[in-house]
Amino acid sequence: MSASVPSPVLLETRKLLKQFGEFRAVDHVDFRVQEGEVLALIGSNGAGKTTLVNLISGLLRADAGQIIFRGADVTAQTVHQRIAAGIARSFQLVNLFDQLSALDNVALAIFSRQGKTRKLFSLADADRPVWDEAMAVLHLFRMESKARLSAGGLAQGERKLLDVAIAYALKPRLLFLDEPTSGVSTREKAPIMDTISSVVRSERISAAIIEHDMDVVFSYADRIVAMHQGTILADGTPDEIRRNERVLTTLIGTPETRG
Ligand SMILES: Nc1ncnc2c1ncn2[C@@H]1O[C@H](COP(=O)(O)OP(=O)(O)OP(=O)(O)O)[C@@H](O)[C@H]1O
Ligand SMILES: [Mg+2]
Repeated sequence: MSASVPSPVLLETRKLLKQFGEFRAVDHVDFRVQEGEVLALIGSNGAGKTTLVNLISGLLRADAGQIIFRGADVTAQTVHQRIAAGIARSFQLVNLFDQLSALDNVALAIFSRQGKTRKLFSLADADRPVWDEAMAVLHLFRMESKARLSAGGLAQGERKLLDVAIAYALKPRLLFLDEPTSGVSTREKAPIMDTISSVVRSERISAAIIEHDMDVVFSYADRIVAMHQGTILADGTPDEIRRNERVLTTLIGTPETRG
């Protein structure tokens, strides 16, 4: 028997349900994230991954069930309350102000964290610490040299990373990343994931990363949760998931189709 003590539970959903009409996109899901872990959420298109993250981050209201974060029921809280509590997320389709610079985009997230909306248009000298912090965030994400470029002019990989940097600037304890390498070439995926992984691990942020690329998933995750048709199909370490028959046949393909 292992002597290791399980980490405390940071987030837990209990029988979480989201229906679109009669269709159950998230079907009574019990999902957990432990303190300090990097978790991968996998599953085929339409499995319910983004919907689950939308429910947890507050973009969607659950039809039933509960979301418990650090022991408190946040099910009825707004997005802003959940951000203040420590839940942030990046988007499958990035959520940037394309006209603004990379630095402005990060600074806006910091201002919003401080409850100062629209601050960018009425700047004062006292805001200097915000710009310094925004630059430090870009530095952490190895994007300092892109600070003055407009977000709209960045390459796809840089846009994905900037969207993650913005979520990080909200100072979360739990960060959801919805396909941080989607639309990026295979060659660019590893540097993006290396950067994200080094930030979350060095800052001790728990992360749940939705990802389709199995090489990425197996290399970076401590634990993998597989979803299928709105439910959790499997939950385990990368080694357990690699050998899990249900995952192999449902998500990765049968030995014949795996080539
Ligand atoms: N707003 C909505 N209205 C109706 N159906 C929706 C809505 N959002 C999602 N769905 C449906 O719910 C199911 C789950 O969608 P979701 O986006 O959560 O899947 P996903 O696992 O993130 O897939 P992908 O890997 O393609 O991003 C899909 O069948 C989708 O069409
Ligand atoms: Mg999705």
